[in-house]
Amino acid sequence: MLEYIKNLPKAELHLHIEGTLEPELMFKLAKKNGIEIPYKNINELKKAYNFSNLQDFLDIYYAGTRVLITKQDFYDLAWAYVEKCVENNIVHTEIFFDPQSHTKRGIDFKTIILGINEALNDAYKKHNITSKIILCFLRHLSEEDAFVVLEEALKYRDLIVGIGLDSSEIGNPPSKFKNVFKKAKDLGFKLVAHAGEEAGESYIYEALDILKVDRIDHGVQCFNSKELMKRLKIEQIPLTVCPNSNIELKVFDCYENHNIKKLLDYGLNVTINSDDPAYFKGYLNENFFNAYKHLNLSKEDIKKLITNSFKASFIDDSLKNHYLNLIK
Ligand code: HPA
Ligand code: ZN
Repeated sequence: MLEYIKNLPKAELHLHIEGTLEPELMFKLAKKNGIEIPYKNINELKKAYNFSNLQDFLDIYYAGTRVLITKQDFYDLAWAYVEKCVENNIVHTEIFFDPQSHTKRGIDFKTIILGINEALNDAYKKHNITSKIILCFLRHLSEEDAFVVLEEALKYRDLIVGIGLDSSEIGNPPSKFKNVFKKAKDLGFKLVAHAGEEAGESYIYEALDILKVDRIDHGVQCFNSKELMKRLKIEQIPLTVCPNSNIELKVFDCYENHNIKKLLDYGLNVTINSDDPAYFKGYLNENFFNAYKHLNLSKEDIKKLITNSFKASFIDDSLKNHYLNLIK
């Protein structure tokens, strides 16, 4: 079964490029750029990857981004992930980036987007891997800040397929970003938002009804509402679920209690993704392996999850059909 999972071509729809920064590259860039890391070595840093909740993780994740300075750094970061795509047989990926975590430190938007984009172009040239870039607003910052980033993004409109919303969820509901999402929609961007990772079902309703998103990132808290479950099923709203992340951030206390199999059996449009694989013990295959091992996924379940990912992606129909034929 592990070979079966490994060999299937896969898509990934929920991946923060800053969350692929491996400790080795973090130390290398820190040394090159003269940035201090508050850990003596890689082992000590890895020991700090022991999180009680989302905020615990975000504090370390944003601290890690400080080593990224030049366009080449962003290229190297994204290229390292491309190599993981090859290993994991990910043939299409839609990656998030958090420009505000860099522009706040004085890095130009241009440096970030061009570095990432160049690596993704090379991914296509060298490995035939297709990709899209989604810009995420940091929800702990203001809507006014988000408008500034959106304006900046318009200079690179062709490189960015969609807009997302991430960072500290509780206390920062989707409705806080109603106007900027409205503007992004008018500009033709696809829309996604993290909702129902830690916070309850009202955040998922807001993402759907106020932000009008095309996909929900995480969304696992929908399980607490029969009414919402019914709606997600009828409308077949894609949920980009990240099992390893949910375990590492204590959204579920153990793998056996993760609800992805129940969501799938109920008929929801769920997908499997790796979120921040450098921090959450493994890339996409590891997420599938764990879900398979602990939740008794069948071959049909695995195929359905992968099919859902391609169908929920932001690629055009002909490419979608090409990928769907590969897994048939
Ligand atoms: N949730 C919210 N924000 C994030 C995450 C996440 O899982 N990963 C990186 N930023
Ligand atoms: Zn995420």
